[in-house]
Amino acid sequence: MSNLITIERHILEQQKFFPEASGELTDLLNDVAFAAKLVRREVVRAGLVDILGFTGNINVQGEEVKKLDLFANEKIISAIGQHGRFAIMGSEENEGIIIPPKNETGNYALLFDPLDGSSNIDVNVSVGTIFSIYKLKGDDPCKASISDCLQHGYEQVAAGYVIYGSSVVMVYTTGHGVHGFTYDPTIGEFLLSHENITTPKSGKYYSINEGSYAQFNEGTKKYLDYIKEEDPATGRPYSTRYIGSLVADFHRNLLTGGVFVYPPTTKHLNGKLRLMYEANPLAFICEQAGGRATNGRTRILDIQPTELHQRTPLYIGSVDDVIIAEEFEQGIRP
Ligand code: AHG
Ligand code: MN
Ligand code: MN
Repeated sequence: MSNLITIERHILEQQKFFPEASGELTDLLNDVAFAAKLVRREVVRAGLVDILGFTGNINVQGEEVKKLDLFANEKIISAIGQHGRFAIMGSEENEGIIIPPKNETGNYALLFDPLDGSSNIDVNVSVGTIFSIYKLKGDDPCKASISDCLQHGYEQVAAGYVIYGSSVVMVYTTGHGVHGFTYDPTIGEFLLSHENITTPKSGKYYSINEGSYAQFNEGTKKYLDYIKEEDPATGRPYSTRYIGSLVADFHRNLLTGGVFVYPPTTKHLNGKLRLMYEANPLAFICEQAGGRATNGRTRILDIQPTELHQRTPLYIGSVDDVIIAEEFEQGIRP
């Protein structure tokens, strides 16, 4: 028991990589970990809503019952916003930017997906929270604006996610490796369980919503034919794994190797996933773990964002597997 490392201690130790840091980044990562605990508390009770006698939109305490993604959104905004460490925030659930109270003391911007995979919540399947942190471009927090949120992914100073699964795991990077912590509910702490995660160069899983096959372009269709062919020399066929919660699909492939693809479709010409809340933070983590993340042509972290809720195709995971998927997308492979 002597070498238990809490996430707070680990974050504090990471500060040695930032000699100029004032400890502020440490505080705000701790804020995110705290907010994750609040969301976890609700997520693990999600199935109790019916038997605790919630009726319509009002629960037994006379409180309004919120959809869990909106609840998670409000919890994160209030838990994190009140400390004054962020000057500006952007959430998948809010149309515009959020200026938290006491923002005049904050030097950072937070972008987040409060509950990812929310359609899975009612069926007891893993969901998650994804976050991304940037330093403000200017010196005056009162002048923080949307341009502080629309920075390139490569400018992120930290990113991470929490997966609420068979156990609850928080994974983060500050650009010095990727580290994972498992929540111990008996002591209410995230404990270091996955130090320096590295992803395999290739894997045996591919993750894509193949039900959308008819909406895919020719490159994607050919890729799917390829990945299912029998060829022991290249480890094919790969196995399909698709949960429908990006965080859960990404987390599995990060640890085991594999590729996640959400390509352009006739329904979502620019892909479905969000650049600022989903693709950028996971791309930062993936690259830090030795993987690759692109939109099929361009590195995700190099994309110039133009709007908060911008969407992007996403090819992410093991380097070799992502390159093969890109080559089909670009028509390099026949
Ligand atoms: P969210 O619940 O935050 O809106 O995200 C849902 C996303 C993502 O988690 C998942 O990878 C994707 O939607 C699944 O989309 P399809 O149902 O089209 O496969
Ligand atoms: Mn999402
Ligand atoms: Mn969401």
